[in-house]
Amino acid sequence: MRKTYVMGNWKMNGSRAANATLLSGLKAGVPALRAGVEIAVCPPFVYLEATAAALAGSPIGVGAQDVSEYDKGAYTGEVSVAMLKDVGATYAIIGHSERRSLYGETDAWVTQKTVAALAGGMLPVVCIGELESEREGGLTEKVLARQLDAVLAAIPNPVPGGIVIAYEPVWAIGTGKTATPEMAQETHAFIRNHLKKGGEAFAAQTAVLYGGSVKASNAEGLFSMPDIDGGLVGGASLTADEFVGIYNGAVAAFGRR
Ligand code: PGA
Repeated sequence: MRKTYVMGNWKMNGSRAANATLLSGLKAGVPALRAGVEIAVCPPFVYLEATAAALAGSPIGVGAQDVSEYDKGAYTGEVSVAMLKDVGATYAIIGHSERRSLYGETDAWVTQKTVAALAGGMLPVVCIGELESEREGGLTEKVLARQLDAVLAAIPNPVPGGIVIAYEPVWAIGTGKTATPEMAQETHAFIRNHLKKGGEAFAAQTAVLYGGSVKASNAEGLFSMPDIDGGLVGGASLTADEFVGIYNGAVAAFGRR
């Protein structure tokens, strides 16, 4: 059976004091994994090491929000896979729509970062998603196929479960507009089918997370869909009660699988 995840993307939020409060709330709310659902937080780079230290001994994992495609050297401002692992991160979000739209990350660049993460033994959480105009223009599947194909072409024999996909319709991110569970399921089913290019086992074992205005009140409904394997959560991951509520929704939904 494929793995399930609830991941929090803090984006550019937090402070040492606020993080300490949030992390102690999460540790109290999730003292142990339930129904096999993995949980992780992705703080800004500068807080990764302290976050990993605060979570030592807890089941909550740590990931980064981005990673360099290079190993080391003259790349001012960049952070490598090895550095992230060194400070306790085991996941890296790659190709978030904010990085694609605000910082010009292309499919090719996202692919290079994904290849670097895999080579360094880090689980990449590759984000894909269509703009509102693309959905309205009937281009959703075309856009998602293009984003997936770029990555799949660079990984000839993908290891089942070795990569996580996060489907985040850009129009649902931070807007309060969530895709309905049925609408999300339809797109997730398309994604899973497309992942067969990497082999049947790869498609069956790849966790495809949903992101975009996930909150405690809609989590269980979304996660009850057969091809939605968890969530990548932005705003609602900044409040312990909300994020724990989302985790509990995942446990309820995935406990029935
Ligand atoms: P949101 O963000 O939950 O605030 O909509 C999701 C994301 O960007 O990963």
